[in-house]
Amino acid sequence: MKAIIQNEFGDTDVLTYSDVETPKIKDSECLIKVAFTSVNYADIKARNGKKLKGNFPLTLGLDCAGTIVDNLPNSGFSIGDRVIAFPYDGSYAEKVIADESLVFKIPDSLTFEQAASMPTVSILAYILLHDIAQIRKSDSIVIHSAAGGVGSMLVQMAKLAGVQKIFATVGSRDKVSYVQKLGADVVCTYDTFVDEVLKNTDQKGANIIFDSVAGDVTRLSLDCLAFYGTLVQFGNSSGEAGTIKTSDVHSSCRNIKGFSLGTTRKHSPARLAPIAKRVIKLFEESQIVLPIAKIFDLSDAAEAHKLIESRNYEGKVLLKV
Ligand SMILES: NC(=O)c1ccc[n+]([C@@H]2O[C@H](COP(=O)([O-])OP(=O)(O)OC[C@H]3O[C@@H](n4cnc5c(N)ncnc54)[C@H](OP(=O)(O)O)[C@@H]3O)[C@@H](O)[C@H]2O)c1
Repeated sequence: MKAIIQNEFGDTDVLTYSDVETPKIKDSECLIKVAFTSVNYADIKARNGKKLKGNFPLTLGLDCAGTIVDNLPNSGFSIGDRVIAFPYDGSYAEKVIADESLVFKIPDSLTFEQAASMPTVSILAYILLHDIAQIRKSDSIVIHSAAGGVGSMLVQMAKLAGVQKIFATVGSRDKVSYVQKLGADVVCTYDTFVDEVLKNTDQKGANIIFDSVAGDVTRLSLDCLAFYGTLVQFGNSSGEAGTIKTSDVHSSCRNIKGFSLGTTRKHSPARLAPIAKRVIKLFEESQIVLPIAKIFDLSDAAEAHKLIESRNYEGKVLLKV
């Protein structure tokens, strides 16, 4: 079968469209023929060696949508079932294996394109909003990097939950109208959000801030986080670590919470099935939609990575397999 492999870390030219062996299933696993896979920011970091150790040949990719083509007796799935999944190894491949605990059926009404756009970003966004931040309608919240995959989901799900004030940040003013259409009330750039949040909250600050950028953005976020507020830290797309001091939380009664879907997939996978069911229903009922920025062929994965690195897109980038 065909897959994208890399034998070293580096720029997009390390991604090679190659022939590899089709993986074989064992206990509690199924084999999935991939229709579409998504490109996540984590893939960029993994490709250039900022996330993984060198276990080559390496295939990137966190999630996919496709069809079950092989399983074992007593499987909870049937051949031909349409599913989304988090495979063991990378999803930039024609076929992948996944543990059944990380495979979720999708309804016929959901296209493979839309289904492939959602697994990582929608399940993550739902957990961040409802389990980690426990948002309330009366909250004022900040969503950083709101035009990306996770950001697009956070804004829509927060709006759906009735959050009263949604501030969103973007890297370029070109993305403002996209994020407004998703449901954000105030869209700003990283250099203006502190003033905008303070101005619009009677100088009190936001109750919840979702930070996937880190570096300076974490520091600035603490300048506009309200007393008793929570900073939810779940990524570092700036490439820098953020710095948090004990004095940032003590007298202000503020919280810093972290979350990783990767860690949860590995150590607590059972937690994901009920959330997957909920977000699939939200997509099925068109209560949320993830705009697809561009679809590339699997063989053009390097071009897809270049688009992500340009930051010049809105929504989700997919690979057609
Ligand atoms: N904790 C978890 O389990 C988990 C899971 C999935 C994703 N994440 C994290 O969530 C974030 C969003 O992921 P995603 O896949 O949906 O990606 P994404 O938002 O589509 O892409 C990342 C975005 O980060 C923004 N950004 C800000 N500063 C940047 C910088 N210095 N360099 C490059 N980009 C910068 C860019 O948007 P602007 O140009 O608009 O600023 C860029 O489009 C990432 O940090 C990712 O690592 C965490």
